[in-house]
Amino acid sequence: MHHPDIFQKKKLKEIMKITSIFLVAGILSFVVASCNNSGSDKNSDIKAGVTKTSWGEFDGKKVELFTLVNHKGDTVTITNYGGTITSFVVPDKNGNRSSVIIGFDSLQTYLQKPPYFGALVGRYANRIGGAQFTLNNNEYKLNPNDGKNTLHGGLKGFDKVVWDATVPSDSVPSIELNYVSKDGEEGFPGNLKVMVKYTLTDDHELKIEYNAETDKPTPLNLTNHSYFNLSGRVTNSILDESLWIDADKYTPVDSTLIPTGEILDVKGTPFDFTSAKKIGVSIDSVKGGYDINYVLNRKDSSSLQKVAEVKDSISGRTMEVYTTQPGLQFYTGNFLDGKFINRYGNPITQHSALCLETQHFPDSPNKPGFPTTTLNPGEKFHQETVYKIKVNE
Ligand code: GLA
Repeated sequence: MHHPDIFQKKKLKEIMKITSIFLVAGILSFVVASCNNSGSDKNSDIKAGVTKTSWGEFDGKKVELFTLVNHKGDTVTITNYGGTITSFVVPDKNGNRSSVIIGFDSLQTYLQKPPYFGALVGRYANRIGGAQFTLNNNEYKLNPNDGKNTLHGGLKGFDKVVWDATVPSDSVPSIELNYVSKDGEEGFPGNLKVMVKYTLTDDHELKIEYNAETDKPTPLNLTNHSYFNLSGRVTNSILDESLWIDADKYTPVDSTLIPTGEILDVKGTPFDFTSAKKIGVSIDSVKGGYDINYVLNRKDSSSLQKVAEVKDSISGRTMEVYTTQPGLQFYTGNFLDGKFINRYGNPITQHSALCLETQHFPDSPNKPGFPTTTLNPGEKFHQETVYKIKVNE
């Protein structure tokens, strides 16, 4: 329990911090795009749009922070360093705003390589066993960065590069990020052009669209690695949040978290979230906590479908996850060890945040039984994911 005074002081501090972020953003920024307010939400005077501020430099390139604001006053901040979402600020049941995505307020912190907070992950999200694969009879060796395996693209994945950002003149606040991953980067074949678009709608939705093209066959698996705590505070464990996942099956892993290749039923295991339950209920029976890929029940890959839902009773917030992807990595922040301190001064500890990473299955390039992740020249890669926040008022 918080002592009410301390709680109030903390709250005041948080509000002042958030206010100062917005003030600084307001003073330093210039409007690069703004949307016509005379549309969707007649009840609101809030001007929707996108602003940008200078955030430093990396690899000789300018790093910027973009703030997307919708007519409801929700904000999403995204930096072109790693295409990283640094916050997603929405109201709770009392109308108080806080970020449901864990992040930091300086580029410096992101340069200390926190474990993929909010980042765009590629060229291959999650693990490739033994840091190698064979494609069309050619053997490819990747940079191992997780024991013998390659995790989230290798030593310098898409989360550690500066993307080219543009603000489209759409009526809904959005930004487009472009990156060209060179042939041979981290060991992957082909020049790969990637375009990711982030959009913030008036329905409290953060939408992510991934597009890519290649000039040689390559494995490709793109995701966003946001860590969520719906209560807005890492001091509240996510083990008390409740979760539903529309998956009857999952891909079990070995001791290095590489899938065995089997596709097993969740029924009768701690991995069963087909009926909503608190995340903490059976977590003790899973060594280390949840870090597992679900085989989503969705069959039609051409349209967005709801695949998961998280509920937090403290804030009254619910998050729905929609995707076109076949898999979902559910990760309970098992490796979070308090080393990184969030923007409110709290250490980010084990189980203080969760990830629901929409994706293709880990190690697919070495698992012929999994859906293919090969992108061929002439093909257009397209996936979409939506994180939608609902508030019980
Ligand atoms: C993913 C993986 C985890 C871990 C985190 C980053 O969720 O599945 O094992 O590597 O990324 O720390």
